[in-house]
Amino acid sequence: MTDVGRHPRIKLYTMSEIVDVKGYVGNFDVSILKKARYVDETDCTACGDCVDVCPVVRPDEFNLGLSSRKAIFMPFPQAVPSAYLINVNECLGHNPVVCAKCIEACDKDCINFHMSDEEIVESVGSIVVATGLSVYEPTELDEYAYTRFENVLTSLEFERLINAGGPTQGEVIRPTDRRPPKSIGFIQCVGSRSARKGASYCSNVCCMNTVKGTLMLKEHYPDIDIKVFYIDIRAFGKGFEDLYRRSQRLGVQYLRGLPGTVEEIADQSLRVSIENTVKGRLETHELDMLVLALGIKPATGTRKLQEMLGLQLTPDGFFLEAHPKLQPVDAATRGIFYAGCAEGPKDIKESVTQSSAAAARAIRLMHKGEITTEPITSEVIPENCTSCGKCAEVCPYNAITVDIKNKIPAVVNSAACAGCGTCAAECLFDAIIMNHFTDSQILNQVDALLEESPKEKILVFACNWCSYAGADFAGVSRIQYPPNVRLIRTMCSGRVDEKFIWDGFGKGAPVILVSGCHIGDCHYIDANHWTEKRVKKVRKKMDKLGIRPERLQLEWISAAEGVRFAEVMQRMETLRREVTAEEIAETIRILKDRKKKKKQV
Ligand code: FES
Repeated sequence: MTDVGRHPRIKLYTMSEIVDVKGYVGNFDVSILKKARYVDETDCTACGDCVDVCPVVRPDEFNLGLSSRKAIFMPFPQAVPSAYLINVNECLGHNPVVCAKCIEACDKDCINFHMSDEEIVESVGSIVVATGLSVYEPTELDEYAYTRFENVLTSLEFERLINAGGPTQGEVIRPTDRRPPKSIGFIQCVGSRSARKGASYCSNVCCMNTVKGTLMLKEHYPDIDIKVFYIDIRAFGKGFEDLYRRSQRLGVQYLRGLPGTVEEIADQSLRVSIENTVKGRLETHELDMLVLALGIKPATGTRKLQEMLGLQLTPDGFFLEAHPKLQPVDAATRGIFYAGCAEGPKDIKESVTQSSAAAARAIRLMHKGEITTEPITSEVIPENCTSCGKCAEVCPYNAITVDIKNKIPAVVNSAACAGCGTCAAECLFDAIIMNHFTDSQILNQVDALLEESPKEKILVFACNWCSYAGADFAGVSRIQYPPNVRLIRTMCSGRVDEKFIWDGFGKGAPVILVSGCHIGDCHYIDANHWTEKRVKKVRKKMDKLGIRPERLQLEWISAAEGVRFAEVMQRMETLRREVTAEEIAETIRILKDRKKKKKQV
């Protein structure tokens, strides 16, 4: 951090918040709200004279309330810049100045109560999202008694206690009597891997954090009795298994089973009841102190940033990468990358690896001064455009601008366009061409696939990233599915225009399936929401026209769901068999009439 602070080509904004981001790859405008520090950070030498005279005492957030700080303070000893700041909400009064003790004590005249928050706009080419994490709040797990008994601590509180720079200079003491505990228990997976409370995923770091804690304890207090209550220990990193074994060799007991209750007994020690699932019996353990290994949650403010940057989140609330294997640090929006726990729980080594990768990806993108865009982008035909604004409304990347008021045709920014094709599918005036997936290219495929024995075929529109890959997976896994399935690939299910569906039915298709990534997994942010809406709309129209809406199906199939792909195709085949030749002929007639009427209008 000190290196970053000193680097001549890095601007570091501390105490700042991103309030808005506009633009696209290579041309982002980021609005930053820089909060007033009330201390001139360039002149402050962090001598601490102001702190000595400040009369306001508050709990120190960095030490999780285990120590105190003043209203003028340094957030933590290694903070960059190494300068104090004032929390004006805690200060006895800055307008008018009531106490002024810090002003009098500061020889360098660094205190300035006239400072105010500033809004700064920075132009940047790419963005790395490294927003970190927050931890699970254990208060809802009443069985662990965190809110009831003082000697139950969280793993973060324990970390501050055992840290040499912490409030006790590294001495582990019980909060109730301030004496070193003779026995400590660790409860694993607090807020992780739980279907009931907290998150269902593994937080990745808690097991090894506990193993590290036990080793440090054994180093400081060789005779201490340590018990770890766990579901299973996940020591999967390089050298981690050795650390786990070392901890066991030093006498740490690993007991499989999570406690059901925690009670306080004489001298405020704790009695923990568990079902030991290795020995198959109920046990109670008396301990001086308990540490809850807290799970990791997405950082606060993740959703706000996601909306600002137009990114995607996983169902767990972490940022979603563009592709888990091929683009693990890229966001779906070009020019944005992820580092650290913003993308999912990870340890320090993984975070450093990912940040290096993100930095390298950003450099690779920016160093030439120009970027190569993908050829699959949309293009507006100005003569056809009525400036209705629908394309701009549906574009997940804000890549289209249209002046509705002055009737100026839409313009696509090809650097920002990712090529989902939703705009082309939604345009009622055929004013948008989706390069490489044009209307005529897709309609020709529909015609060719239904040229012979159309009533035997199942027509499937599959998105490139999930459903088409799911079909591929079913194929390479040799999973059998009906051979009469005919696939048409589009980049996203959002590209499936209503006219492709009508054309399919008009050419005698008994069943049409539109399939894409699961909601929330679309590779073009939320383009498949438009697919869903469109399919619903078409089904309503089918109903009105007297065509059975069940003949149009929508399914979300991921790339890993080869078995599901085959099952869905089997279902489509059953549906196809139910459609009679008369029904198909009637549909063709209805659609011909509809076309004629439209032409007359
Ligand atoms: Fe699969 Fe959008 S990319 S539905």
